[in-house]
Amino acid sequence: MSELYLKDEDYIANTYTRVHLEPKYGEGSYLIDINNERYLDMYSGISVSLAGHSEKSIIEAIIEQSNKYIHLSNNFICRPAVELAEILVKNTFAQKVFFTNSGTEANETAIKIARKYGKSRGKTKILSAYNSFHGRTMGSLSLTAQEKYQESFKPLLENVEYFEFNNADDLEEKLSDEVSAVFIELVQGEGGVVLADKPFFEKLSILSEKYDFLIVIDEIQTGLGRTGKFLACEHFDIKPDIVTVAKGLGGGLPIGAALLGNKCKDILSKGEHGSTFAPNPVASAAGLAVLKIILKDSFLNDINRKSEYIISNLRKIKNSHPDIINDVRGIGLMIGIDVGEFAQLIKEKAFKNKLLLNTTANKIIRLLPALNISYEEIDRFIEIFSHIIFEINFDLLKL
Ligand SMILES: Cc1ncc(COP(=O)(O)O)c(C=O)c1O
Repeated sequence: MSELYLKDEDYIANTYTRVHLEPKYGEGSYLIDINNERYLDMYSGISVSLAGHSEKSIIEAIIEQSNKYIHLSNNFICRPAVELAEILVKNTFAQKVFFTNSGTEANETAIKIARKYGKSRGKTKILSAYNSFHGRTMGSLSLTAQEKYQESFKPLLENVEYFEFNNADDLEEKLSDEVSAVFIELVQGEGGVVLADKPFFEKLSILSEKYDFLIVIDEIQTGLGRTGKFLACEHFDIKPDIVTVAKGLGGGLPIGAALLGNKCKDILSKGEHGSTFAPNPVASAAGLAVLKIILKDSFLNDINRKSEYIISNLRKIKNSHPDIINDVRGIGLMIGIDVGEFAQLIKEKAFKNKLLLNTTANKIIRLLPALNISYEEIDRFIEIFSHIIFEINFDLLKL
């Protein structure tokens, strides 16, 4: 282990599992380590580096803005933030934006809006789905209905209840006039790349009118082109009241946002919510560069074509090795490969082959590549991945 790894263990709180690679720099879909080895990165900082590593236009935007001002207090208007909000509003259902520094803070904002919306209506409850992930601060964690994240930190926020994802009957059973908001992901990313059902969302819409609750969609992982639409909710016939985004919004710099629909745009009033840092001007300028790339003609269509190409190739590998691959599923460039007990082994073998894979829910290889990954890079991934599966199959046959 290098000296830096030992210092990392000594000086940084031990909450993350480290990959044994010390990056020197990033370049598109590759991370290059201090020994100049090139690793194909198939999860792009868990969906943060949407335009790949070290994208030139993002770097230029960061430098240009840094030369003007790096921080402004919220007493001043901030040009890049206003422009970023305008683009977000003009390209979504939203009418206003509240900026944050992270995904969990965007969800905390939505929780406060839900509480305030409920207050005048006698609504005190918030619902979220089992197996969800909404962040790690206490409010978002209270909505993250997974015991492994919550158990050490109870008691959590009061008046939060859970329903089964994609189960409209269970949702309806938990609903009452006391519910102010339902928080939901369209693909449960941390939960194992589990896709939402269209009929469930149709029912959710109908129920929101019947019980007058806010629909809050957490698109921190699915938003900003990841699923082949600017927001994943555009795949569904649903009108959200709030959508939260973050991850790649700042091209790697920390910025998130709660996108607010008509019902929610003016719920919070002056002084009721805020942040010292958000919206950071440099992150906002980087965000403008990111959105310029994502909203370019044909960029989203290309994502859909690449998605079909990856999924069809993976399904071919699955069909030849059904004992190793249980399922391949996904939408856009958010793809889950259910490999059951082989997940860790595949990840380790991939690393030895200079391929960086992310696993989730213990059994899913989760692909979240840069949205501008090339076909050549995809082919390289498929080649290494199929070789690994072939090797594991070979070892199994020997047993
Ligand atoms: C769906 C979802 N919600 C919320 C979060 C929390 O975002 P952050 O880590 O920026 O606080 C994440 C992070 O992985 C996420 O995937």
